[in-house]
This record gives sequence, C-alpha cells and structure tokens, in this order.
Amino acid sequence: MKTALFLFAAILFFSCNQGQQDTRQLQTRIDSLQQLVNKSYKPGLGEFMLGVQQHHARLWFAGTYQNWPLADFEVHEIGETLDDIKQYCTDRPEIKSLGIIDPAINSISKAIRQKDVEQFKKAFTELTADCNTCHKDNQHGFNVIVIPTGLPVDNQNFKPGN
Ligand code: HEC
Repeated sequence: MKTALFLFAAILFFSCNQGQQDTRQLQTRIDSLQQLVNKSYKPGLGEFMLGVQQHHARLWFAGTYQNWPLADFEVHEIGETLDDIKQYCTDRPEIKSLGIIDPAINSISKAIRQKDVEQFKKAFTELTADCNTCHKDNQHGFNVIVIPTGLPVDNQNFKPGN
C-alpha cells in the first residue's frame, strides 16, 4: 500500500513538473511570436495616403478619357486602400472621418456605371474637396489635393481601346 502511494505521488509529481515545463516553453514561444508581430512592418497612414493620391490621379485620367474599365478599377483600389487604413491604422483617431468621402466615391462609381463623363467630373471635384476637408479637419490642411493637370506616369496608356 505504501509503495503504491509512493508511486502515485511520484507520478503526480513528475507529471505536474512536466506540465509546468510545457507551460513555460509555450509562454516563451508566445513571447517570441509577440516580439515578431510587434516588429513586423505595418505601413503608416501617410504611406496609405500616397497610394490614395496615386489612384486619385489615375482615376481622373481614366474617367476623363472615358476608359470606364480602368476608372472602375481605380475607384475600387481607393476603396481597398480605405479598408486597409481602417484595418491597420486603428491607432490614428483621424480615421473616424474617413467616411466623409463615401458619398463622392458612390457618385463616381455611379457615373462610371452610367458612362457619364460630366457626372464623373462633378463627383470627382466633390471627392477632391472632401479629401481637403478631412485634411483641414485633422491638422493636415497643408496637404492640398487638386485635380491633376498632367499624367501621373508616362509609361501607361490611360486611353480606352487597348
Ligand atoms: C481621415 C480623413 C482623410 C481623408 C478622407 C483623406 N485624407 Fe489624406 N491624409 C489624412 C491624414 C490624417 C494625413 C496625414 C498622414 C500622416 O500623418 O502621415 C493625410 C495625408 C495625405 C497625403 C500626404 C502623404 C505624404 O506622406 O506625403 C496625401 C497625398 C493625401 N493625404 C491624399 C489624400 C487624397 C487624394 C484623399 C482623397 C481621395 C485623401 N487624402 C483623403 C487624412 C485624410
């Protein structure tokens, strides 16, 4: 009986010990993974905005040349970048004003669907004003967005029918 008790206690002792060791190992792995996550690259709001700026310019030429498939692509790219901002820039309180451009984006999408260049230009002008409203509301009024006058790149054909 004594031997059985001793054996039982010994098994319990070793298995508890093993459990504690496993927990410690697991914690060490979690800590090092946490460090990796903290160090991983996350683009900042300014970097995302550079993307938005590029798509904004491309969208203008696609729309005014009535290259509707390209315009549709560019407006979706803006939408995707806004989604990324919402996902990755949660530490920036300014992003609560992002919705300010939604109505203009919707009007642009509608103009693209209807292939209406005048409506497109009107909605694009509204969008550009909304970019600046948000910048002004968030102490970035010095970032002034305008309707582009020159092609954003010269290695792409923005005209339709290619
Ligand atoms: C949430 C409101 C908001 C909206 C809407 C918005 N922006 Fe911004 N934008 C910001 C903020 C805040 C910054 C400063 C980011 C930083 O701290 O780096 C910024 C920065 C920028 C910059 C400067 C980037 C750089 O690093 O030099 C550009 C260009 C820009 N935005 C373009 C646009 C365009 C184009 C639109 C409209 C299609 C737009 N933004 C709409 C808030 C906004």
